[in-house]
Amino acid sequence: MAREHAIAVIPGDGIGEEVINEGLKVLRALAQIYGFKLRTTSYPWGADHFLKTGVMMPDSALDEYRQHAAVYLGAIGDPRIEVGLLERAIIAGLRFKLDLYVNLRPIKLYDARFCPIKDKKPADVDMVVVRENTEDAYIGIGGHFKQGTQDEVAIATMLYTRKGCERAVRYAFELAKGRKRRKVTLVDKANAVRPQDLWTRTFAEVAKDYAGIETDHAYIDAACMWLVKNPESFDVCVMPNIFGDIFTDLGAMVQGGMGIAASGNLHPGKTSMFEPIHGSAPKYRGKNVANPLAAINAAGMMLDYLGEKEAATTLESAIASLLTSGRIRSLGAGDHPTSEIGDLVTAEVRQIAAMPAGEPAAARRS
Ligand SMILES: NC(=O)c1ccc[n+]([C@@H]2O[C@H](COP(=O)([O-])OP(=O)(O)OC[C@H]3O[C@@H](n4cnc5c(N)ncnc54)[C@H](O)[C@@H]3O)[C@@H](O)[C@H]2O)c1
Repeated sequence: MAREHAIAVIPGDGIGEEVINEGLKVLRALAQIYGFKLRTTSYPWGADHFLKTGVMMPDSALDEYRQHAAVYLGAIGDPRIEVGLLERAIIAGLRFKLDLYVNLRPIKLYDARFCPIKDKKPADVDMVVVRENTEDAYIGIGGHFKQGTQDEVAIATMLYTRKGCERAVRYAFELAKGRKRRKVTLVDKANAVRPQDLWTRTFAEVAKDYAGIETDHAYIDAACMWLVKNPESFDVCVMPNIFGDIFTDLGAMVQGGMGIAASGNLHPGKTSMFEPIHGSAPKYRGKNVANPLAAINAAGMMLDYLGEKEAATTLESAIASLLTSGRIRSLGAGDHPTSEIGDLVTAEVRQIAAMPAGEPAAARRS
């Protein structure tokens, strides 16, 4: 019997639907090539649905997601809605309520021409960030006092637990075991934010279980500097939620832009969520100009998570081949129609899958 994967799809707002459609197009082609089935259920959550019904994302949806292997999300956010309201309910709702404790963000340069840093090559930019995903300043403990007055006080609590640190750190070490460099860098700000010493101590303890893995440490300010100056110094990085949020947007630019960067929100062994790291880019909505490669890359991460390793590898090769050969000219918006990029990737995965096994990647580039 063919393998079947149940996927909950939330296209969301802005360019979400356009980029997710291209991701699904590629996923369907790969399913056909590699003989697995996709059972997708689409959910309407986002600004239009909220304006029509007043519903953001009901808790009952979470039970439904748990019946799926993965959630595939486009983007959430719309200028017609109070800032952050839907993002908190839907994106943070998924992360917190499904306990998706790892936010995995590969930062990989496919071709030197996409890198804004002089003389950096693909070999120099190939790292993975493990961002803790369920704690820190995003937990919503805090608020305003005397709001709108000259005496206003605003409090946001940064919360870290031993369990939260340890599971993120352990995931990073496990990940490093399967990589060439086998190095994990802890990024924190424990010199100034002393409670983050919990991260430092947890990292040192977990490291004892991984004798073959090189360890390193950088404060977040220095880490941002190193990311631009010497991106080759990083392999796997692990860090608290808020630093990971910021560091990976910088990383996205180092790899060429928001049009390529993807992420997985994981609870290993349970329903996990995959999404481009960009937002809803409202200015591009409905124009067929958004770059869907980030959403397509997220689909590749989802396939890998679902155990469809061959399909994930073929997709990775197809994206690399289209970018290095210049057939996809840019990672930004407007150089290709959104749908054309989906078509190019679909054709390329078919071509690569039809090549005899062991054919060198270069031979696939036309
Ligand atoms: N995970 C999410 O759904 C998520 C993430 C970030 C922001 N948001 C929300 O999205 C809305 C817009 O936020 P923003 O403008 O800060 O960030 P954004 O990522 O939507 O857009 C920033 C800029 O990046 C570029 N960009 C983004 N996606 C692109 C793509 N696929 N192809 C080409 N260029 C692309 C555009 O120039 C865009 O103006 C807000 O409501 C915000 O809260 C949602």
